[in-house]
Parts: sequence; structure tokens; C-alpha cells
Amino acid sequence: MEKTRIIVDCDTGLDDAVALILAAKHPALQLDSITVVAGNQTLDKTLYNTLSVCQLLGIDVPVYGGCDRPLVRSAVNAGEVHGESGLGDIVFPPLKKKAEGKHAVLHLVDTLLASDGDITLIPVGPLTNIAMAMRLQPAIVPKIRRIVLMGGAYGFGNVTPAAEFNIFADPEAASVVFSSGADIVMVGLDVTNKTAPDMEKVERIEKLCNPASKLCGGILRFLLRNNQEIDGPAAGAMHDGTAVSFAACPELFSVKEMQVEIDLSHGPCYGRTVCSEKGKPNALVVTGVDYEKLWQLMADTIALYGE
Ligand code: RIB
Ligand code: CA
Repeated sequence: MEKTRIIVDCDTGLDDAVALILAAKHPALQLDSITVVAGNQTLDKTLYNTLSVCQLLGIDVPVYGGCDRPLVRSAVNAGEVHGESGLGDIVFPPLKKKAEGKHAVLHLVDTLLASDGDITLIPVGPLTNIAMAMRLQPAIVPKIRRIVLMGGAYGFGNVTPAAEFNIFADPEAASVVFSSGADIVMVGLDVTNKTAPDMEKVERIEKLCNPASKLCGGILRFLLRNNQEIDGPAAGAMHDGTAVSFAACPELFSVKEMQVEIDLSHGPCYGRTVCSEKGKPNALVVTGVDYEKLWQLMADTIALYGE
């Protein structure tokens, strides 16, 4: 099977860590590199967390630090969900893995320009790095095979009634990306909120007894324990892992072509992904997923860390 070459752009975060676990090992994916952005926590923390996950699990790909603040708005974070560290109560051994010296935006530009147009970008945090790369070098847009992003919602948001965190954290960046003409798949809350595990699934993962299953189990338990009040039944949702799973197995999902515009008005709808089936389509919006098969994909992929 030909592997899909991917670059994950993340703000590691708890569900970002699970996305990295899947991206690094799923047999349909070839993880080229990882770029990191501020979002769930400040860039120093999201970069530390990304490097620590890679070091712990032997994910031997280059990691690039990117933008430490949004394009225009003031920075926000999701510490109430992901904790002060950005990875809950997970403790890692002393960090030895180093980030690359090159800025993530320059890495994205150089890698995409040098490619055959075979790279799928999987942004699972604010879109600041992606937007900056597009503005720095517009010639990268036709070189992007597809952007499968976790963000937005055609229904309610999770930061405000209108806006989902990744978009809310940098709406101007999202507007640049959604208006770029790139082939975009939007994996939004409408589907990801329905991916939260029950304890049977947590225990199924933990019984795999390898470093990835232990890390994933700890993440899921932290999310389930700490986010019921904030997220209710969506606590523990695999927002970012769902985007990676789409890139690996799109057949598990249903999609609709929609026009997606970003509300940049500075009112209650700031950062809303305004989705319409009537406008000129600029994105495939995910509308459904086979929940059991999604969790089977995650379990099967995590099991590969024990081989
Ligand atoms: O709204 C969910 C998104 O916000 C996820 O990417 C999570 O990691 C946070 O960044
Ligand atoms: Ca994220």
C-alpha cells in the first residue's frame, strides 16, 4: 500500500499527543516531520511536550518550533483543559531530543517547494504556521496535496457558542488557509465531540501494555477525570486523533462539500467557521465517523508500538 506522506502541525496538548502516536505508526502514513505552534499552551511548552512524546516513543522524526503567537489577535491557551504543562499530569524522563534549528514556517516552505506535491498537512492546532507559510511563499499552495485539519464546527463551538478553539485561537490564520484554494478537509467538533471513549476502550488500550498504550491510557484518564465539567460527554474526545485517522482511513468517515468562511467580526461570532452547502465549496467537511472502527484503528495502531 502506498503510504501518505504527512507533516503534522500541532500544539501538544493531550489529544495532540495521541494524534502523534497514530501519525508515527499507522501503516498508511509516512510521518515526514512535525511542526509545532503555540495554542493549548505557550510554544515553549508545546514544543517540550512534542519532543518528549517523540523521545518517549522513539518517534525519530525532526521537530520544528514555529510561531509563538497568533497573526493578529492576542494569544489564548487551553490550560483549563490540558493543564499547566499542556500534557495534564504526565511526567516524562529528562528531555534529550532537540528541536531543529530551522523555524517551522521555513521548513514548511522549503519542504513543500522541494516536494512532488505529495505531502498532506495535518494541522491539529491553531493555523498560524500554515498561514504564515502561505503568506511567505504563496507558491507552496499548489504543492500541498491536501490539508486535513482539526478545527471548526458547523454547529456549536467549544470556546464560545460560535467558535472552536483552534480557529478561535487564530481566526485570521484560519481565514488565510480556508481562502487559499488548497484542498481542505475540515474535521470539526460536529464529529470529534462524538469520539470520546468509554472505560472499556480505555482499558482495551491499556491492556496493550506498551509505552504508547501507557501514555494514551494516562491521557484518556486525565481527560475523562478532569474535563467532565467543561466538556461533558465530549470529555476525552480524540479531536486531533480523528484528523489523523481521516488521513489514514477516510473510508471511516462521511463528508459534505461546503463553503467555509471564517467570521472575523469582533463580536460573539469571532472565529466561527460559517459553513454553507449553498455557497462555492472550498472544503470537505466531515459529518460522521464509524465510532467503533475509529477506536479499533487507534487500538490496532497503538498495538504496533509493542512489536
Ligand atoms: O477544539 C479542540 C482542539 O483544541 C484540539 O486540537 C485540542 O488539542 C485543542 O487544541
Ligand atoms: Ca491540538
